[in-house]
Amino acid sequence: MRINKFLAHAGVASRRKAEELILSGKVSVNNVIMTNLAYQVEAGDRVEVNGIAVYNEEPVYYMLNKPRGYISSSSDDKGRQTVMDLLPKGKERIYPVGRLDWDTSGLLLLTNDGEFTNLMTHPRHGVEKVYIAKVEGQANKENLRPLTLGMTIDGKKISPARYEIMRQDKVKNSSLVSLTIHEGQNHQVKKMFAAVGLPVQKLSRVQYGPLNLEGLAPGRYRRLSKKEVSQLMNAVKQ
Ligand code: URA
Repeated sequence: MRINKFLAHAGVASRRKAEELILSGKVSVNNVIMTNLAYQVEAGDRVEVNGIAVYNEEPVYYMLNKPRGYISSSSDDKGRQTVMDLLPKGKERIYPVGRLDWDTSGLLLLTNDGEFTNLMTHPRHGVEKVYIAKVEGQANKENLRPLTLGMTIDGKKISPARYEIMRQDKVKNSSLVSLTIHEGQNHQVKKMFAAVGLPVQKLSRVQYGPLNLEGLAPGRYRRLSKKEVSQLMNAVKQ
């Protein structure tokens, strides 16, 4: 939507007055002053007038228990199933907060609030995410130790992770390990386990900050309460 229309829809000013605000440098998009009247506002953009965020829609927040076999984006050029297929076709333009791989299941947040997304996904803020991984091989203190020391993945240093060995299957030569991390780099958990010689066979995210999937069956979603949204915000390290 064109920026002046966006501001008018949000009730800031008439379209003409909105244009004046834009030309006078009072409007920013994603923290950059925007004076281009032709700019098209996109889902996830943070638009501010005089430093105050403008929402065209009520911010909404959802939690989805993503099944395997869905990609975490709002559309797919290859026509694959996306998480949006599992959500209500409402008036809000919601989108996933970060990503889970196609073959990863578990807790995925979705929102129309760009600032919330930035806070949750920025590694600096360190919201903890807990994954349960079925890995090939026998996980033990020795081979998992590097995970707790802070590894470098794709040239980026990641913070030390915590783990718990939940099960070991000597016959099938696999282990179940829970891993708590702070960042959300592409394929991070798979890469971390691969780096210690334990390839991931199955992966699920079971916790995001203070929230878990209790009571939410695979493929189902629910709105987050105001309290849960503030709990997530509080989980962000300043
Ligand atoms: N780490 C991964 O490897 N995959 C995911 O989907 C999420 C975290």
